[in-house]
Amino acid sequence: MRGDFSVFRANLLKWFRKEKRVLPWRTHPSLYRTVVSEFMLQQTQVDTVLPYFESWLRVFPGFAELAGAPEEAVLKQWEGLGYYSRARNLHKLAKSIQDMGIPKSFDEWLKRPGIGPYTAAAISSIAQGIPEPVIDGNVIRVLTRLSNDAKPILSSQEGRKRLLPLAQNLIDAQSPGDFNEAVMELGATVCRKARPACLLCPVRDHCEAQAQGSEADLPVIVRKATRRREVARLWLRKDDQLLVHIYPSDAKRLAGLAELPEIQHPENQQPILVRSRGISTEQVRESIFVLQASNADAEKWIGHPACHWVTLEEINSISLSAPHKRWIETILRAEMDA
Ligand code: ADE
Repeated sequence: MRGDFSVFRANLLKWFRKEKRVLPWRTHPSLYRTVVSEFMLQQTQVDTVLPYFESWLRVFPGFAELAGAPEEAVLKQWEGLGYYSRARNLHKLAKSIQDMGIPKSFDEWLKRPGIGPYTAAAISSIAQGIPEPVIDGNVIRVLTRLSNDAKPILSSQEGRKRLLPLAQNLIDAQSPGDFNEAVMELGATVCRKARPACLLCPVRDHCEAQAQGSEADLPVIVRKATRRREVARLWLRKDDQLLVHIYPSDAKRLAGLAELPEIQHPENQQPILVRSRGISTEQVRESIFVLQASNADAEKWIGHPACHWVTLEEINSISLSAPHKRWIETILRAEMDA
């Protein structure tokens, strides 16, 4: 990095305090709001999180209300945000705070459910003023550009470990929360992956990559090869009901979540809907088939304890993953138009 660290901090914080996006967890900060927002932001962009955050706070205004709620209500409120283990962990965290109190350090936060180094640093710095640097994908991009570091990053853990000493030296000990949010904000809005807006950057004079013209090539991330997977799913109606599979309580990450049942790929039959989506490093193509109730694969699911007939009205009150909800709506609309 070029120039003086204290000038860097001052330039960055001045920019953040003037330009930061107005977000509900910033305008009325509290420990609870910081925790909820950081859980939601773990794998999801700010624009997607905003409506969920607002309605979450209406239903669960604090740790006590969240801790006392049934898991189905918590999952229902999370529905559509994806990565449901975050909702389950946030629920467990609220219970642990009711039982054991509020963690007082980065290391204490790390021991609680669903909290890794990123979330522990974000919560402890933003809500408690603890000088622990946050290192997420945005921060990795900012730091590798500042230091013109082109060494390939093998995983987020490896990147975090490598960049931690620089981040620890850089952090503003007086305002660690604002500093961490400022670096994340810079990565999200200015130091973007594609076409970084260097002309608008408050710390461009400190950036080694900008001086060398290499910012667009950084960071160098070694991507895992994407695997492809084919999934076939069942569309089975009976009167105004649809057969869905609800993951049982021992299904960990997916427990309580409803999906269209998975079947063997039928031969010689056209699907009624085909959709592709990326799930972490996999590209999954899902094809939905209508089978007769007498088909062996359909029969197996009809009698299965995890499969349930739900009326079309009830579909809105069960926890469906967002893609399944969209597919079901698309097929029902096509059925009505037919
Ligand atoms: N991404 C995750 N948490 C954030 C925060 N507090 N500010 C900006 N971007 C974020």
